[in-house]
Amino acid sequence: MANEQRRAAHISGWGRYAPTRVLTNDELSRMVDTSEEWIQQRTGILERRVAGSDETTASMSLRAARAALDVAELDPRKVELIIVATVTPDYVFPSTACLVQDALGARSAGAFDLSDGCSGFVYALSVAADLIVAGRYDNALVIGAETLSRIIDWSDRNTCVLFGDGAGALVLQANRARGGVLASVLGADGSGGDLLKLPAGGSVHPATYETVDQRQHYIHMDGREVFRFATRVMPKATRQVVELAGLKVEDIALFVPHQANGRIIKSAVRALGIPPDRVFTNLARYGNTSSASVPMALTEAIEEGRVQKGDLVVCASFGAGLAWAATAIEWSLPLPVAKPPRRRIFWRRMLYHLARIQSWWRRSWRRAGALLRQLREGEEE
Ligand code: UT7
Repeated sequence: MANEQRRAAHISGWGRYAPTRVLTNDELSRMVDTSEEWIQQRTGILERRVAGSDETTASMSLRAARAALDVAELDPRKVELIIVATVTPDYVFPSTACLVQDALGARSAGAFDLSDGCSGFVYALSVAADLIVAGRYDNALVIGAETLSRIIDWSDRNTCVLFGDGAGALVLQANRARGGVLASVLGADGSGGDLLKLPAGGSVHPATYETVDQRQHYIHMDGREVFRFATRVMPKATRQVVELAGLKVEDIALFVPHQANGRIIKSAVRALGIPPDRVFTNLARYGNTSSASVPMALTEAIEEGRVQKGDLVVCASFGAGLAWAATAIEWSLPLPVAKPPRRRIFWRRMLYHLARIQSWWRRSWRRAGALLRQLREGEEE
């Protein structure tokens, strides 16, 4: 078995979802004291997506997850682990991952949320990949999803022009083929926590009339300081992860940075000496979608045919925490992948309907059980 490769986590599926509602810079310039030129020049953002009133982080996660499972041709009932990286979960608890697990009918899966600002998705990918390499799981569904529009102060021009909603998902599967996730770097500096935060709603400032009056349930950010931190940490984490993978920055075939600001990306890319044609950005159309930014960008890059088997793909992110993360992946699938046959897509849709019915049945059964117990207790008294 001299030629056998080590067990690795390989990307076998990808999917993304963006709400249909487009919010342009022009519209924003009519909402706050800003201009189309300012937003475009200082951020590189032209428009962003905003979730509809019936959409949530879980519902967007679900759409991205289904697309990723379709590409991987993985039966949702065989998914072993679901991680949702998000700072805008549907609820503080239950976790959004559990809501997704239920909606997918992923009855064999463990599920948890991971919250680490915009670095959350790369953190989640690293955790899932390591659990797969350790032999604990054979596959994992890793999702990054945000409904940031619900925590944006639409009267604060410093933040409202930057963010957007969306979701991206990857399926990781164990394999002994060459490549997969080669290395990850995770970093944090909590002393910078005040620079980017949602001040209220946690145990320090639980929700009160005052916290609402003082607009403490919205994103607060010192943009200039976060900018400085980002331009320092992105090149550093990228160099570290490439070195850890035993490679060089020159080997990077595709760099997928966190989509926060075009100037941050340009500065990092310049510092690293990566040619612009090896950098993927979709920031202009989606803005900063925090945990969703890397998986949405990576999925779009794959769909556009920007990666080929054997390519070194590096994703790097930074954000609230302060935290940062980078991962180096050797792409191991030939692309494009064939579309699954229609009857398999139909069968998959049936499975999702079945999952909904099963979930309804379990809820009803639990309610009926509780009612019956109450009745019995009443009779005994
Ligand atoms: O995922 C991580 C999350 N956060 C980030 O990545 C954000 C990182 N930071 C940034 O992207 C940039 O710092 C911003 C885009 C937020 C701001 O750009 P900047 O070039 O650093 O602007 P600045 O904060 O230095 O502000 C320059 C001026 C200020 O006016 P004065 O004080 O010079 O008169 C701001 O008040 O621009 C003003 N300004 C605006 N003007 C028009 C700030 N926001 C706006 C706006 N429209 N939307």
